[in-house]
Formats: sequence, C-alpha cells, structure tokens
Amino acid sequence: MKLYVIGKPIKHSLSPIIHNFWIDRYNLKTKYEKKEIAKSQLATIIKQIKKKEIKGINVTLPYKREILPLIDNMSNSAKDCDAVNTVFLKKNKIYGDNTDGKGFVKSCEKNLKFNFGGTKIFLVGAGGSSYGIISELIKKKTKEIFISNRTEENVLKLVNHFKNRTTSLVPINWSNLKPNSDVSMVINTTSFGMKKGEFLEINLDGLKSSTVFADIIYKPKETEMLKKCKKKGFRTINGLDMLIYQAAISFNLWFDISLTKKDIKDAKEICERSY
Ligand code: ATR
Repeated sequence: MKLYVIGKPIKHSLSPIIHNFWIDRYNLKTKYEKKEIAKSQLATIIKQIKKKEIKGINVTLPYKREILPLIDNMSNSAKDCDAVNTVFLKKNKIYGDNTDGKGFVKSCEKNLKFNFGGTKIFLVGAGGSSYGIISELIKKKTKEIFISNRTEENVLKLVNHFKNRTTSLVPINWSNLKPNSDVSMVINTTSFGMKKGEFLEINLDGLKSSTVFADIIYKPKETEMLKKCKKKGFRTINGLDMLIYQAAISFNLWFDISLTKKDIKDAKEICERSY
C-alpha cells in the first residue's frame, strides 16, 4: 500500500524525498508519491484508504480544510485548528491529524533551543498554517501573539477562533508591521516571499538583538525577509526544519516508528542537496 501527498499544485513538494528516504532506511515495503488532484477526487482517495488500497496521505494546499467533512475522527490538534494534514485508517475509521504546528514548534525548540513559554510573538498571516502554529503556541503557553494579515477580515476570524484562551491574540493593522522590543520571535506564515521579488517588509527598529525571525517558506531557501534579518545580525530559521519535523510526526503516526536525530539530520541533508 502506497502513501501520497495530495494538493494542487504539488510539483514543488519535498515530502516524497523525505518520506521515501525514511521508507528505504527502515526497509518498509511501500512508496510515497505526490498526486495533484481536483477537489472532486478527494472522496475517491478517502474511499481507497477505507478499502486499504492506500495506507495514508498528507494533505496540503488547498485541501487541508476541504477534506474535513470526509474525516470520521479528528485528533485534538486537528479539531483545535480546524485543518488536517495527515490521514490514515484507525480502527476502520478515517482518522485526521494535524502535525504542522507541532513541526514548527519542534524545529524551533530543537534548532534554536527556543522556549515559547511566556514569550510575545509577532505573527504574519491568517491562513491554514497560521491556525496550526497558533494552536501549538497556545499549548506552549505563549503569553501574547500579535497577528497581522493582508485581509483584515481573515485575521479577525482567526482571533475569534482562538478567543478565551490563555494566550491573548492581538490583531495588528497590516500597514503597521513594526514589532515591539518585547517580541521574541517574528513568524511569517504566508506564502508571500516564495516568488522572486516578493519582500515582506518588516520594520526592525527597536527590536532586541535576540529576536528570532522564522519563515515557514523553504523554497527559496532564504526569503528576502530572512536575508535582510540575517544581515542585520538576527537569528533566522526557514521552513525546511518545520517540514521535516511535521513529516517525522506523520511518519510515526503511519508506521509507529520514532525517527532518530540522525534520521532527521540525514533527511535534511538530502533536501538541501535538492535545492
Ligand atoms: P496556508 O494554508 O498555507 O496558510 P492559505 O490558507 O492560502 O495558505 O493562506 C495564505 C496566507 O498568505 C494568508 O494569510 C494570505 O493573506 P490573505 O488572508 O490576505 O489572503 C497570505 N498571502 C498570500 N499571498 C499574499 C500576498 N501577496 N501578500 C500578503 N499576504 C499574502
């Protein structure tokens, strides 16, 4: 039984490189492939999982929410952020989980030794990735998250979704991307920066030198925003580690294998060679 990552477009995905590397290393008799599908094909894929013709799938843009009506049981994480990126059969039911936010948090904890507890974060974007990351930042007891997004309506919806939680979410005007000096991390969760010439302009005046800049984009390897911040001496992290850590959590859900530090490191090296 094979596994797939489904989405549209899907050409750019590095997930097959990562999963097939681990599949080979653990001698698992399967293969992970990418499949570009139309929305109308989602139900067919789910049927194939039910019939045990497909072992599991990763779901990416634009189907992380579209797939929700087809899921029988959702993990608490998936429920919390209303989106699913990992699907498989569990006790004959279609089970959906979301490993994106956990992948992001893990990448920062492991690579930067960053501890979110009690921090203030400035986050840009209000799409699916933003929901996943915020859900985990709340679990990690982040004190406050300032959120800005091009479309104000979407940021208000997001703030409303996570209202009455222990972390306070504060909407910030799109024309005011100027984090305060008490912000420990700035995160770009938008796709803005993937295309040549796209530069997310953030005012760095007044930020403390320990502020970390994270971008969930992994192609290009370094967005213009990250390049500028790095030049100014800030620590930066791109989206590759998030991608690998979320993949490792999905891999564990499908195969019940806990990947080692070396498995993670080697997968990263292989991805880096593919740039
Ligand atoms: P994902 O599920 O990966 O987060 P998404 O749900 O399509 O993807 O969300 C994309 C995010 O990128 C949104 O915050 C979007 O802003 P809008 O809510 O205004 O659409 C943001 N985004 C996409 N293109 C952008 C651009 N050119 N400039 C600024 N923000 C952009």
